[in-house]
Amino acid sequence: MNKKPHAMILGTGRALPEKILTNADLEKIVATSDSWIFERTGIRERRVAEPGVPLSVLAVGAARAALEDAGIAATEIDLIVLGTVTGDMKFPATACLVQEQLGATNAAAFDISAACSGFLYGLQIAAALMASAGYRHALVIGGEVLTSMVNWEDRDTCVLFGDGAGAVVLGPSDGRRGLVHGVLGSNGAFSQLLYNPGCGSLNPPTVANVAEKLHTIRMEGREVFRHAVTSMTTALQRALDEAGLTAGDLDLLIPHQANMRIIEAVTKRFGVVTEKVYVNVERYGNTSAASIPIALDEALRGGRIKSGDTVGLVTFGAGFTWAAAILRF
Ligand SMILES: CC(C)(COP(=O)(O)OP(=O)(O)OC[C@H]1O[C@@H](n2cnc3c(N)ncnc32)[C@H](O)[C@@H]1OP(=O)(O)O)[C@@H](O)C(=O)NCCC(=O)NCCS
Repeated sequence: MNKKPHAMILGTGRALPEKILTNADLEKIVATSDSWIFERTGIRERRVAEPGVPLSVLAVGAARAALEDAGIAATEIDLIVLGTVTGDMKFPATACLVQEQLGATNAAAFDISAACSGFLYGLQIAAALMASAGYRHALVIGGEVLTSMVNWEDRDTCVLFGDGAGAVVLGPSDGRRGLVHGVLGSNGAFSQLLYNPGCGSLNPPTVANVAEKLHTIRMEGREVFRHAVTSMTTALQRALDEAGLTAGDLDLLIPHQANMRIIEAVTKRFGVVTEKVYVNVERYGNTSAASIPIALDEALRGGRIKSGDTVGLVTFGAGFTWAAAILRF
């Protein structure tokens, strides 16, 4: 390991809606089956926010849990970065609503849009601002209410996604623990393989556009699958190489929980054994920007990460975007 960490995780938290939508429930909505969904994705059920529960509610829940875990008061937070593509409104940023609800009166707050890579983009942006601009305690949140943009008549996509939020509190590294290295990447040439074409300035929410369901998720599943495996593999390899590590140095790998077959394809390429890969996709589906911080919180609270462990995080999402990070605990 040739790099020194510069920001460390002081606490983590997650918030998930109580309502569970099982594959059996989906069988009543579209022509699908539990066996088709489970064999192709590894998903058994996902959480769904009740109507009237926007992203800010989940993001605040995850943030409060992370602050409590860290033993940090909201007023000590000077930066809030929220990765999401399903904010409460087009503007203001949902991070500002979170800031107000937490009473984080000393924090600058903004959202970033990197789809499923939103949390790892946010983590690296926050760490970089801490290193370069004097921010001391940052709250990084990844959260989505993806079911708000799902087309419930499209079996190709509606079985995949779920809602939730996860958060971490970052503070100055003690010199040993923290973010060792991170990489980010994107390729907009593939923007139309996974996108939501409506509600923006291209296709405003007119009656005609809404009737055409332009405000819902569009995806070319097979192409996305192929790119996800390649980009996650490349990103993780780059992060390991630049940190002077190999996959064998990882005590735990937390990949984006999009699909069990993507996770298996990526981990196989690195020869990482199943026991060293954190998986919860069967319970939550793909929660986009929330998937890694939810899994990280579960892994820490469940004792899967111990003091001194080296943990790899890797993701891929619409854009296309991808990111990887190496953390030392
Ligand atoms: C979406 C995904 C599971 C589909 O699996 P696949 O093996 O590629 O399946 P295909 O899309 O080729 O469809 C195969 C058949 O299943 C059907 N099918 C699609 N969704 C279905 C569903 N929910 N239930 C039953 N059948 C379904 C298709 O209509 C198709 O039928 P046909 O052969 O009669 O035309 C897979 O492509 C995938 O995981 N892609 C990545 C998605 C992802 O992770 N996106 C987020 C990235 S961050």
